[in-house]
Amino acid sequence: MITGANGGIGFWSTLQLARRGAEVIMACRNPEKGETAAQAIRARVPHARLHLVPLDVASLNSVAQAVDEISTRGPLDGLIANAGMVHTPRTRKESVDGLELVAATNYFGHYALIAGLLPVLEETPAARVVTLGSLSTSLVRARLEDPQLVKHYSPWRAYAQSKIMVQSFAFELDRRLRLSQSSTRALCAHPGYSISGRTQIIDGVNNPSPAKVLAGNLQRPFSQGKSQGAWPIVRAVLDTDDVDDPGPVFYGPRGLVRGVPRRATPAAITTDRWAANTIWNAAETATGISFLG
Ligand SMILES: NC(=O)c1ccc[n+]([C@@H]2O[C@H](COP(=O)([O-])OP(=O)(O)OC[C@H]3O[C@@H](n4cnc5c(N)ncnc54)[C@H](OP(=O)(O)O)[C@@H]3O)[C@@H](O)[C@H]2O)c1
Repeated sequence: MITGANGGIGFWSTLQLARRGAEVIMACRNPEKGETAAQAIRARVPHARLHLVPLDVASLNSVAQAVDEISTRGPLDGLIANAGMVHTPRTRKESVDGLELVAATNYFGHYALIAGLLPVLEETPAARVVTLGSLSTSLVRARLEDPQLVKHYSPWRAYAQSKIMVQSFAFELDRRLRLSQSSTRALCAHPGYSISGRTQIIDGVNNPSPAKVLAGNLQRPFSQGKSQGAWPIVRAVLDTDDVDDPGPVFYGPRGLVRGVPRRATPAAITTDRWAANTIWNAAETATGISFLG
């Protein structure tokens, strides 16, 4: 299952997994965009096994409905928590649940989704949860005492802090899964710097403006397309070389911002135990959901 599978890295991860014969649940908030993306994949992989599930990850009600629907389908082998707000609002906004919108989308919603789907993941031996981290985790002064940025909102901090939270959450989830003797593993991967202007045009899926294509060409030495950006994510969900690794397991491009996937070093704050507990507790408070406590 991939959240935000209709565009960007989620689309390319779905296509690459479909090419390997995987059956993929595409969880998308806009059904038309989801259908367009599924058709684009079927045009390239005629026998692709794709299922669309509605999911607005910024709404806890929508998350609960998606959990109910997916739980009736039987075991889940892997979950890629990809959906994300990358272009964040200039001023602080709240989700339908009254949570800071960027954190609600990038972290709290995925926390609730993973908590709800853990039973169906655990039906598959060695199932995998992959969250989407970011290089921005090293580039911001976090305010973890203010997880919803009531006092310290800026568009950049909202993004980078949400990525610190979701990256730390993957590593803490993995620790707690191991402690509970679960065979499910949680990992994190980041796509470097992967931009739409350097990505193949696919009508309805990737239609960059001429300005974005120009910007993409200017940034060629230190960027890549989103199809390459999907490689570390696909590797994180499929590669079994790391199965006995005590973690944290983090993948990213060999050239930091671009290139083939390899093991990467996560930002120190995302492997800090105090920060991890603060971040986990913030999600419990925000969502009212506790698991693996
Ligand atoms: N691109 C990079 O260089 C980069 C670097 C580091 C990390 N990442 C991470 O990689 C992930 C994907 O990024 P991207 O570059 O592929 O971004 P993108 O092209 O903007 O795609 C984001 C996807 O998330 C979906 N989404 C956003 N809000 C949602 C919600 N509330 N519910 C359900 N789906 C939602 C979007 O759906 P709609 O089409 O409906 O908006 C879209 O499918 C993000 O988590 C991002 O933080 C990206």
